[in-house]
Amino acid sequence: MRIGFIGTGTITSAIVSGLNASDSTTFTFLVSPRNAGVGAALASAFDNVAVAASNQAVLDGCDTIMLAVRPQVAVDVLESLHFRPDHHVISLIALISLERVQALVAPATRVVRAIPLPMVATRAGVTALYPDDSTARAIFTQLGPTIALDSSEHFNAFSAATATMAPYFAFAGEITGWLIRQGVPPTTAHSYIAGMFHGLATVAEDPSAQPFPALAEKFATAGGINEQVMAHLTQVGALKAVSDALDGVLNRMTEANR
Ligand SMILES: NC(=O)c1ccc[n+]([C@@H]2O[C@H](COP(=O)([O-])OP(=O)(O)OC[C@H]3O[C@@H](n4cnc5c(N)ncnc54)[C@H](OP(=O)(O)O)[C@@H]3O)[C@@H](O)[C@H]2O)c1
Repeated sequence: MRIGFIGTGTITSAIVSGLNASDSTTFTFLVSPRNAGVGAALASAFDNVAVAASNQAVLDGCDTIMLAVRPQVAVDVLESLHFRPDHHVISLIALISLERVQALVAPATRVVRAIPLPMVATRAGVTALYPDDSTARAIFTQLGPTIALDSSEHFNAFSAATATMAPYFAFAGEITGWLIRQGVPPTTAHSYIAGMFHGLATVAEDPSAQPFPALAEKFATAGGINEQVMAHLTQVGALKAVSDALDGVLNRMTEANR
């Protein structure tokens, strides 16, 4: 299958790299000319990547098209292109609803939204799709599990939840910084905290794992230090602030599609 990308930036690079990380990839890629540096780097790293002369040339040369431009320029970019009825469009663009993308890529009718995460580069992603789509599933399953959602509301909520990735690193960074302030060498502190969170993710991913609140309780021994930190974070509203921030992201998505 030949996959075309409109927008050759961070996420395109991650997907192309991830799909090429398998020993026997059956994909070839045609990427749009912007960003020239990213396109050149991909074409030089992988024999199966070509850079098209224009965005329209990507559409003309491929049946499956991934939309990977930023939301701010997406409408202008898509309005200038001529899609075919048989194009299969996979939109990675945050903030722009399925209905809006469908209108922008008409007469193409097969349109799906996907949220690949940067970890697809190392095939450690988990990709949400809406609606379910066999081709998108077949592509993204190569890069980690896929989760097909059955409503735009759920898809938007998943999309909002991905806004916790940077805060996750900031949280880990705060703990690591605290260790460093206790005199621990930075690399030792980093390795220890990364290892601790990796282990915790393994616990949570186990098919028989309890839900997160139950795990929090299980790891907070009565009278112990985890219980102490939980009590403090709860008291100062740090956990509730996460939900409040996600409400804000969801509101922004709703506003963006009015
Ligand atoms: N990064 C992620 O983890 C992630 C995950 C899921 C979804 N997404 C979504 O994927 C989209 C791209 O995100 P990104 O992080 O990859 O952004 P990015 O690194 O900024 O890539 C966007 C690319 O679009 C190019 N571009 C700008 N104007 C263009 C035009 N007129 N025609 C064709 N290409 C044009 C940019 O080129 P220049 O550099 O030359 O401006 C850039 O290479 C966004 O809508 C984002 O919401 C991102």
